Amino acid sequence: MQRTILVTGGAGFIGSHLVRLLVNKYPDYRIINLDKLTYAGNLTNLKDVESRPNYEFVKADIVDAAAILQLFKDKGIDGVIHLAAESHVDRSITNPTEFVFTNVIGTVNLLNAARACWNDAFSGKRFYHVSTDEVYGALAPTDSMFTESTRYDPHSPYSASKASSDHFVRAYFDTFGLPTVISNCSNNYGAYQFPEKLIPLFINNIRNNKPLPVYGRGENVRDWLWVEDHARAIDLIFHKGKNGDTYNIGGHNEWKNIDLIRLMCRIMDAKLGRPAGMSEGLITYVKDRAGHDLRYAIDSSKLQRDLGWTPSLQFEEGIEKTIDWYLANPDWLEQVTSGAYQQYYEQQYKGR
Ligand code: NAD
Ligand code: DAU
Repeated sequence: MQRTILVTGGAGFIGSHLVRLLVNKYPDYRIINLDKLTYAGNLTNLKDVESRPNYEFVKADIVDAAAILQLFKDKGIDGVIHLAAESHVDRSITNPTEFVFTNVIGTVNLLNAARACWNDAFSGKRFYHVSTDEVYGALAPTDSMFTESTRYDPHSPYSASKASSDHFVRAYFDTFGLPTVISNCSNNYGAYQFPEKLIPLFINNIRNNKPLPVYGRGENVRDWLWVEDHARAIDLIFHKGKNGDTYNIGGHNEWKNIDLIRLMCRIMDAKLGRPAGMSEGLITYVKDRAGHDLRYAIDSSKLQRDLGWTPSLQFEEGIEKTIDWYLANPDWLEQVTSGAYQQYYEQQYKGR
């Protein structure tokens, strides 16, 4: 094998798309997927690549410093693409401390292990930290988009923990010369997203004729990117990005929540053979999320200019494709909502 790449959080939403891309595109790389398998980790997302000779799964917790160091020593890791995180803003409001452990301490443990094992011999090595646009805070409706030099201003415990981890990654580049790179991406959508996040939750609720809980007045704006375009950007930045640099990734695709929800309702009425307007009747305005950021919008022109990345899918096509995927995979949704997916590791992996 040419290179051994550690992907953390590879059983999650974005991680599973990235692992699939890397395993298929680089047969000469050994791709190690390290994941704790929290509620968000689902190994069934990777059934199609799990028997490939260049893929390996390791169940481990990035908060366990000794286990992470041992893994680095045992596996001869050349590159890290770090996605493992607690990722849901609402959960960070209920339990902030978990976000500090995983997102901050976990990241520092990985940085320390890379530093200890690479031992200042950094040629051919890279530590890539996957972060979020939420570290930049919230925009007013007429503000210009977040650029790589926008001042950090996180508001939720989730975004504060991601901002902290970004600072540690930059500090390890500045202080120890560790070859790091960071990307900050906008909201992703697509297949295999845990149905606690807006798009898969609402698709599932529309499917089951359940209420659609819109926070506040639905006026908040998010900038949506198809997850496979994010995975392509990560691949590009990992291979071509500059050490010490930051790259924003986004779709130039801002949607007010309520407009997006109405669009999903219209598409799904047509696909489910329901009378036009029926699913909109499920919209229920509920108490707003505490500290709810009004608007995110990412300027990804640096990535487009320097590395030639562009999103491949228009949103109207992507959202339809995404709805089609969830409707064609009711078993996936049912296993996730019932918790049955959590038995897959015991059934398929334990004792291997
Ligand atoms: P996710 O919640 O779907 O997946 C997270 C994965 O990390 C899961 O497989 C989980 O089991 C694993 N994990 C959690 N804690 C762990 C620990 N202590 N040790 C090892 N593994 C652990 O998240 P996602 O939406 O795929 O996001 C992945 C990364 O991308 C995160 O770092 C997130 O901050 C970032 N990001 C997400 C989005 C988005 O829209 N989803 C946008 C920009 C950036
Ligand atoms: O911007 C990138 C971020 O996008 C990532 O870093 C996070 O990991 C990811 O979870 C996502 O954060 P958001 O908070 O923007 O995503 P979420 O899907 O939770 O919510 C999207 C919008 O929809 C937000 O304005 C809140 C609103 N919402 C969400 C839910 C779950 C509702 O109105 N009702 C809901 O039930």
